[in-house]
Amino acid sequence: MTATGWLPFLPGMTVNARRGRRERERAYSRYGPSMRVRVVVIGAGFGGLGVARALREAGVGDVTILERAADVGGVWRDNTYPGAACDVPSPLYSWSWATNPAWGRRYSGQPEILDYIRRTASDAGLLDLVRTGTEVTALEYADGAWRVTTSTGVLDADLVVSATGQLSNPVIPAIPGAGNFAGPAFHSARWRHDVDLTGKRVAVVGTGASAVQFVPGIVDRVAAMTVFQRSAPYVVAKPDREYTPGHHRLFERWPAVPAGERRLTYWITERFNGALEGTSPITRPLMGAIRTAWRLQLRRQVRDPELRRKLVPTYELGCKRLLFSNDWYPALDRDHVDVVTEQVTAVEPGGVRTGDGRLHEADVLIWGTGFAPTEFLGGIDVCGVDGLPLKELWADGARAHLGLTMPGFPNLFVVYGPNTNLGGSSIIGMLEAQAGWITQVARRIQDGRAHRVAVRRDVWERYDEDMQDRLGRGIWSGCDSWYRDGRRITTNWPGLVAEYQRRTATVDWSELDEV
Ligand SMILES: Cc1cc2nc3c(=O)[nH]c(=O)nc-3n(C[C@H](O)[C@H](O)[C@H](O)COP(=O)(O)OP(=O)(O)OC[C@H]3O[C@@H](n4cnc5c(N)ncnc54)[C@H](O)[C@@H]3O)c2cc1C
Ligand SMILES: NC(=O)c1ccc[n+]([C@@H]2O[C@H](COP(=O)([O-])OP(=O)(O)OC[C@H]3O[C@@H](n4cnc5c(N)ncnc54)[C@H](OP(=O)(O)O)[C@@H]3O)[C@@H](O)[C@H]2O)c1
Repeated sequence: MTATGWLPFLPGMTVNARRGRRERERAYSRYGPSMRVRVVVIGAGFGGLGVARALREAGVGDVTILERAADVGGVWRDNTYPGAACDVPSPLYSWSWATNPAWGRRYSGQPEILDYIRRTASDAGLLDLVRTGTEVTALEYADGAWRVTTSTGVLDADLVVSATGQLSNPVIPAIPGAGNFAGPAFHSARWRHDVDLTGKRVAVVGTGASAVQFVPGIVDRVAAMTVFQRSAPYVVAKPDREYTPGHHRLFERWPAVPAGERRLTYWITERFNGALEGTSPITRPLMGAIRTAWRLQLRRQVRDPELRRKLVPTYELGCKRLLFSNDWYPALDRDHVDVVTEQVTAVEPGGVRTGDGRLHEADVLIWGTGFAPTEFLGGIDVCGVDGLPLKELWADGARAHLGLTMPGFPNLFVVYGPNTNLGGSSIIGMLEAQAGWITQVARRIQDGRAHRVAVRRDVWERYDEDMQDRLGRGIWSGCDSWYRDGRRITTNWPGLVAEYQRRTATVDWSELDEV
């Protein structure tokens, strides 16, 4: 009973495929507390690894982590573009259970963060649980368990955690001729390190958080660069710094110092979250101060008044993600860089055509056009009780109680799910809260005190109404961004991280139903 059923794809042959609901209930009562819950976690980024670690610590479940790629790491494995780094200081953008006094700088680069993920996963004994090269394609609830179909086989699970991330599927927009470019063309999250950009004419589409990092990272190498900007971001200074050997000695000797930096960063980001929500009394002064800092940076770093004019955003500060960089504006101000604000209308073999009819010639095309965040579990065909497709439940947009659970989808929980992204703080704080909540549920199932649980439909509906009401009054409703699915804001949490942590700290069983 303890082994996870895992066989090559043979329909109907998995360990529990033929076991009926009644038989499973008998099994539960027979094995009682000693029965281990078979848990499948999909995705080996911060989210999936965090859940697996929490379950292990609690001694709950036989955990298998299915990862489609060849390694753990999630976005930090995939985004290897020059300049990739976190934009929340590392002392906070790290596990609470594995703080790291050895960070090389305040805003660590991608290689260091990926090393950190690998190391903490290894130290927590998680790497043996990961099956790489295994993409989950379907989840079907039948006979009281989940049938998990993957690219390499089928397995059954009592409990499934989807930790597929909001920013794991890159998007290249459907621009006519997007596939016709004659030279190398690639997305920032699939960087082609084999393409030498030295002396090349490079076209970049997009001016989001990724482009703001990789454009300065390559500007010195290229002969010419055209940056296609649909909307200008607000970019403020990044208070980055190297941690010297002196810092490291201090951090080792006085752990209270890095712990204090973590707490201070948390406190500052929470003030910013409060300002974004608009409920904080310091909203106006704080946003005003940030706007002033942005304006001064733009004025100081961009000489050309015409370029400066192009770089002024047309939406309220905070509506799209606030970006941090000390070298974005200087890069755009270089003589060999052109910022084009005409709409991109087509891609042709020789370059990018814009609405004014101009062809901007290029040798290499880089898409900095972001991800498909509103398609939670998008690549997975999910069917719940009575064959209800998740797509149907989410026909009007993704929604989940606490971002975690949907009615009719028992024992399926989502990490970094709908309405759990943040506008300006460490996502890891949310992921840890979700891991704790899921672990409580899994433990109860393992103890035999619950079997198949999902949120009650009325609770789910009320929660979503509340989310949408709050979000509708907040800053993100004022412009178009990746936080919206066209109609609703489906990615973001409207409040403080502390509120989310409080609401998920203890499972409210009255909100859940046995299915
Ligand atoms: C470049 C970049 C920088 C970022 N910087 C910050 C930052 O500074 N601070 C911050 O708080 N947040 C940041 N984020 C947000 C980031 O997404 C989260 O912080 C966090 O890494 C999310 O972890 P995750 O495990 O939920 O998702 P991911 O890291 O996206 O991991 C999801 C995993 O699931 C796998 N997967 C997906 N679908 C399947 C499938 N069907 N079958 C099997 N495996 C699958 C993927 O391959 C991936 O490994 C950044 C995001 C990006 C893209
Ligand atoms: N740690 C970090 O610093 C960091 C780095 C990278 C990513 N991230 C995370 O990942 C998220 C996504 O960042 P991202 O930069 O990859 O994506 P993004 O923020 O979604 O930016 C995509 C960019 O492409 C533009 N775009 C999209 N379609 C276009 C089209 N058809 N024509 C012209 N322009 C088009 C967008 O313009 P519009 O704005 O007009 O839509 C935007 O400028 C960030 O918000 C952040 O949460 C963080």
